[in-house]
Amino acid sequence: DKAIYIGMLLTVNFPMAYAQSQSAIQPASDQARGISYIWWSMFWVALIVFVAVMILLAWGLWRGKSNNPSQLSYLASRNLVIIAGIAVPLITVICLVGGSLFLGRSLSQQSPDNALEVRVTGWMWWWQIEYLDDNGNTIATTANELHVPVDRPVMLYLESGDVIHSFWVPQLHGKTDLIPGRTNTSWFQVDGPGAFRGQCAEFCGLQHALMGFLVVSEPKAKFDAWLANQQAPAPSPSDSKTLAGQQVFFESGCQQCHTIRGTEARGTAGPDLTHLASRQSIASVTRKNSRAHLGGWVADPNGIKPGAKMPMAQLSPKQLSNLLDYLQSLQ
Ligand code: CUA
Repeated sequence: DKAIYIGMLLTVNFPMAYAQSQSAIQPASDQARGISYIWWSMFWVALIVFVAVMILLAWGLWRGKSNNPSQLSYLASRNLVIIAGIAVPLITVICLVGGSLFLGRSLSQQSPDNALEVRVTGWMWWWQIEYLDDNGNTIATTANELHVPVDRPVMLYLESGDVIHSFWVPQLHGKTDLIPGRTNTSWFQVDGPGAFRGQCAEFCGLQHALMGFLVVSEPKAKFDAWLANQQAPAPSPSDSKTLAGQQVFFESGCQQCHTIRGTEARGTAGPDLTHLASRQSIASVTRKNSRAHLGGWVADPNGIKPGAKMPMAQLSPKQLSNLLDYLQSLQ
């Protein structure tokens, strides 16, 4: 048991490497495509301007050597200043600003009526994700992993529980801030099945950089099955180990901060753990959701994310092992 425990701690300091791209120029939705078009147009315009200036500069230096007064006066002529120095830059800037205003307007339009509605709340330093019914009531709560169907727009209500955060999935949309005391909205529709990494994009304290999340897009049937499972209460302990693990959970006071629906655990300070084992990652996409990483996290959360509010659990190797059995049963 001790060997397992040490093994868990040793694996702790290798951050998980998600293969998912986090690039705004590899768009996977119409919204992100619009943003990437603007990015590319700015890139090409800037490149053309850069090359033109370099050519003119080289030409000027080369011609300047010849000391031919007629050519030098042409370089300094009034028309050149008016056209290349004022008109061209002005038209270029107006086109780029106009394009980006036009795009911003079209992105902030209201989402279609049939959107899936999700409330995302930012906390230091994790994401609470609630699925809403037609009346705005929460039907399922999870953390750090936003599942969406591919055939439907997703409407996000973005809120904060503490400080300002910003919701950003570069492949799906631009950034939208989560501001205490108000609800911002954003919506997107994903092109097809996939997984996309998101990141908090507003400095929010010590672990801002490790405040990541995943968007998982799935075909309708798969998404519906996933949501139905998330709505169900947690599975009850099925053997002596998971039962002992559940006891460790309550004896250690985990229920003061965490909810496990179907049990007495109703804490709200930390992530809902009802279907913890169904998630791909823990600690806001900081670590893969494996037994070893989960063990390392429970044993020393601040070792992975200094400043994390979760206290260190003082457990014997056997208690930790049982607790992990229980947590891993929460499918
Ligand atoms: Cu939350 Cu930065």
